[in-house]
Parts: sequence; C-alpha cells; structure tokens
Amino acid sequence: MSVAAAAQVLDFTAAERRAVLAHGPWPAAVAPDGSHRAERDPAAAELGRRLFFATGLSGSGGIACASCHQPGRAFQDGRSTAVGLGPGVRNTLGLLDAAGQRWFGWDGGTDSLWAASVRPLLNPLEMGATAASVAARVRRDTSLAPLDRPDDEAVLVAVAKALAAYQATLVSPRTAFDDFRDALARDDMAAAARYPLSAQRGLRLFVGRGRCALCHAGPRFSNGEFADIGVPFFVAGGVDPGRHAGLRALQASRFNRLGPHADDAGAGAVATRHVRLEHRHFGEFRVPTLRTLKHTAPYFHDGSRATLADVVRHYSELDEDRLHADGERILVPLRLTPTEAADLQTFLFTLSQ
Ligand code: HEC
Ligand code: HEC
Repeated sequence: MSVAAAAQVLDFTAAERRAVLAHGPWPAAVAPDGSHRAERDPAAAELGRRLFFATGLSGSGGIACASCHQPGRAFQDGRSTAVGLGPGVRNTLGLLDAAGQRWFGWDGGTDSLWAASVRPLLNPLEMGATAASVAARVRRDTSLAPLDRPDDEAVLVAVAKALAAYQATLVSPRTAFDDFRDALARDDMAAAARYPLSAQRGLRLFVGRGRCALCHAGPRFSNGEFADIGVPFFVAGGVDPGRHAGLRALQASRFNRLGPHADDAGAGAVATRHVRLEHRHFGEFRVPTLRTLKHTAPYFHDGSRATLADVVRHYSELDEDRLHADGERILVPLRLTPTEAADLQTFLFTLSQ
C-alpha cells in the first residue's frame, strides 16, 4: 500500500470495519417467497410488466401503477404524498429492491409483494378496481389468458402475482459505497481511497455515534422492522396510527400469507402467525431502505422533509418529547456540527447511483 493511498482512507477500527462490511455485498441474495411460486418466472414478469404500465386495470381506466411508481424516479413520484389522494395519505414508496422484504408498506399492512400489489388495485384512492372489474379486463384480452381463473378473486391474485414477478426484477444498481465496502473487504486501500473522505467520515458517524445502523442495518440499510423516530403522526383530520393500523389490516386480510391464496398454504408465514398487536406499534413506521435516496425525495412516510439536509437536521435536533416512552431508547439528539451534518449527507448520497 502506498503512503498516499493510506492517507486517503480513515483508520477504521476492527469494529467499524465489521460494521461497514455488514452493509454488503450488493446486490444481496433474496430469499424466495414460498407464498408465490412463480415470483421468479420470466413469462409472469413480462405479463406483469405490461400490466404495471397499463391504465386498463384501474376503475377509471386512467391510472397505472407507473403513474405513481415512475421508472425514472426509482419507481417513486417525487410528491410528498401520492397524487389523487387527499391530505393525510402517505409518501409513495419506491419499488427498487422491494422483493424479499418481510413486511410491505409504511405500516406493514401486507406481508408479501403480491399482497402489496393487491392492495393498490382495490384501494379506491389508488386504482379503484374490484376483483370483478379486474377479472373482466383479463377476460377481454386473450393475451392475458394465462391469468384467467374461474373465480374473480383468483384472477385478481393472479394479476397481483404477475405484477409482483415484474417488481421482483427491479434491483437498485451498485454504488460508490459498495465499491468502497468491497475494497475494504479485500484490503485494497488504493481502490478504497477513491471514496471521498467526507463520505468516509459520514459512514463512521453512521455506524458509530449516530447509531443509524442499528435500524438501517444490512445490505438494504433497513432491518425491515418498524420504529418511531419522532415524526409527528398527526395529520389533517386525525392521526396516522402507522404499524398499529397496519397490523390490524394484515391480520384481517384474506390476502395474507395465512390465507387461501398463499401457494405454500401458510408454511412460510411464521412471522405473520406470531406477530402481536401491541400499544407500542402506534405511530411506528417501517424503517426505509436508504439505497435510492438520491431519487426519492421528499422523505418520511408523510413526505414532510424536502431534502436530505432536512432529514439529517431531524436526527441532529430530535424532539425527545415526541418519541415513545416505552421501547428501547436508541435515538438521542446528535447535535451535529455543520461539517458532521455535511459528511453524513455526503455519505447518504453515495448509497445511490
Ligand atoms: C395513486 C398512487 C399510487 C398508485 C396508482 C399505485 N401506488 Fe403503490 N404505493 C403508493 C403509495 C402512497 C404507497 C405507500 C403506501 C403505504 O405504505 O401506506 C405504495 C406502496 C406500494 C408497495 C409497497 C412497497 C414496499 O416496499 O413496501 C407496492 C409493492 C406497490 N405500491 C405496488 C403498486 C402496484 C403494483 C400498483 C398498481 C397495481 C400500485 N402500487 C399503484 C402509491 C401508488
Ligand atoms: C430507531 C430506528 C432508527 C434509527 C436509529 C435511525 N433511523 Fe432513519 N428512519 C427510521 C424510520 C422508522 C424511518 C421512517 C420514519 C417515518 O417515515 O416516519 C427513517 C427514515 C430515515 C430516512 C428517510 C428515508 C426515506 O426514504 O424517507 C433517512 C434518510 C434516514 N432515516 C437516515 C437515518 C440516519 C442518517 C440515522 C442516524 C443519524 C438514522 N436514520 C437513524 C428508523 C431509524
């Protein structure tokens, strides 16, 4: 290693190195979804791709999945809350890397990618369709014959599973962070030195004093679970109960992994079977991935933060009175210096291409 190269890489401790390596490699292996046997089937994905961009499935005939999930914006729409929905509704989730999660939606209201695709079809504020209208649409188009079933609800699920097969092909590209992480893993300091020092300092904060990696863990930068970080959940006309409402919806749904439409008859539904509704779930939202941030502003479930600088300020200034009293106390106001805040932002941007 040359002295010049060494000077460009921070002296990460062994513990810091381990923490950094835990955020890769990328792309990450995705466990197959037992409730959806054809999730990786290319023919199903091709049908799903066509349906995703078609407006014909919506009740009005004027809206497609891609109206809100736009390919050029990491399958998000750049709005604070989704178009066509009134106040108090949520920020559109991007769909890159969606497959392989345990829970879907900001509130975990669904437990599979296909059920998360049934949800917008039936939601009057999104696609506004019914099982009958979706089935009628499928039966009008002979090229959709592989999705036809005798029963309307089964057609709806077949459509949602095709949509899921398409979405399972959407994976975010490798980033500057991934190159740094892999260089560190093979002790290639010359390659590691190409990663800006400011990003390295931000990364050190992220895995260290900031404690960000406790929730934004692993290759996806999310532990896939739910937390309350003090984003106010009061919305016009009431509150958004977050995970508390999501769990109720999940448990009542015919489309969960314990229901009649799971291909493995509930065998892979351990988490769904055992999850319990608790008071602490009130006001919790899913820990989002940080992999596509550059393309998915504004931020948080309510789209209330316009820029990453605003998000970093949130964690720096944190209003502790807004955080739940119960549960483990992970978050404290970080009181970052301007340089630290800038470093953290630089690092967060290196997680997107
Ligand atoms: C009107 C805008 C809109 C339309 C149309 C729409 N979505 Fe969404 N989508 C959203 C919003 C908003 C969320 C977040 C909802 C929440 O969590 O409460 C979301 C979340 C999702 C998620 C969950 C992602 C995750 O990581 O948990 C999936 C999957 C999804 N949508 C797929 C689809 C599909 C498939 C269609 C078409 C059948 C569709 N959406 C149509 C706005 C929309
Ligand atoms: C206790 C778990 C937890 C910790 C610790 C944590 N986060 Fe988060 N983070 C979340 C949750 C939950 C959300 C979504 C909150 C919401 O929308 O209401 C979030 C949202 C975000 C977002 C917005 C992403 C988006 O797409 O909207 C960014 C960026 C972010 N966190 C970065 C960080 C950074 C940087 C740190 C460390 C300073 C950190 N987080 C620490 C749980 C956590």
